[in-house]
Amino acid sequence: MRHSSHSLYCPGEFTMTDRVPTGIPGFDELCEGGLLRNRTYLLAGTSGTGKTNFAFQFLHSGITQNNESGIFVATEERPEQIRENLLQFGWDLQSLEDEGKLAIIDACSTKIGIPSQERYVDVRPFDMRALLDQIIAIQDTIGARRAVIDSSTSLGFHLQDPAKVRIELLKLSTTVEILGLTSVMTCETIDDSLYSRFGVENFVTEGTIMLYNKRHENVRVRSMEIFKMRGSDHSKNIHPYEITTAGIVIHPHEEVY
Ligand SMILES: Nc1ncnc2c1ncn2[C@@H]1O[C@H](COP(=O)(O)OP(=O)(O)O)[C@@H](O)[C@H]1O
Ligand SMILES: [Mg+2]
Repeated sequence: MRHSSHSLYCPGEFTMTDRVPTGIPGFDELCEGGLLRNRTYLLAGTSGTGKTNFAFQFLHSGITQNNESGIFVATEERPEQIRENLLQFGWDLQSLEDEGKLAIIDACSTKIGIPSQERYVDVRPFDMRALLDQIIAIQDTIGARRAVIDSSTSLGFHLQDPAKVRIELLKLSTTVEILGLTSVMTCETIDDSLYSRFGVENFVTEGTIMLYNKRHENVRVRSMEIFKMRGSDHSKNIHPYEITTAGIVIHPHEEVY
């Protein structure tokens, strides 16, 4: 890691006004002030890079700092586990759910054949139409502005065929955009590259954020980059980030080589 002054991204005048602040310290200044509203972004990385934490920080800060309700589709972990894990960052999800500002869809329990006590439960076997209908119904109730699909990889496994994965994920990303949701879809990569499980996830979103956890001698260094962001200028550098007791923090003025 090294501090550099020559090749850093220097934001000029912001061109688009309707930016959605991510609530990730250090992120928004890498892309003209935040994500473009009503678009879907892919958040890709290997297991343990912090995708779920990052995505939930975007939802949590939206609710608590921007008064924008959120929908979280949990396919990888049961909502109970997520509530428990994220409490360590001081995020009380249950209260936000009780206030009607956050809806978590349990798309995990029924898939592995265990009962769910959750308010919103996705059906088995997986059916994209049913998931979309549920998102639409929740949207009618809570009027969300942000959504997270965690993860596209799990959904892909239910669909199997890459051509089908591509069209179904495109349906999902387009539907949430039409519903007025700015969304993050997580995606598991095979190694620290953009090789996703189905090879199509990157094509159905408007932007791609990569999280890396690279080994350097005997330590692993976390870093991130904005790989693609349609309609926006953005940093082309790789920046270090940390996972702290307050959540994810990016260091936008440092670079990793
Ligand atoms: N309080 C913490 N301090 C530092 N790192 C943490 C903390 N809590 C979680 N982590 C890191 O976050 C990782 C899990 O993040 P997560 O968002 O679940 O990853 P992913 O969804 O990409 O698999 C853990 O492997 C751990 O390294
Ligand atoms: Mg995860």
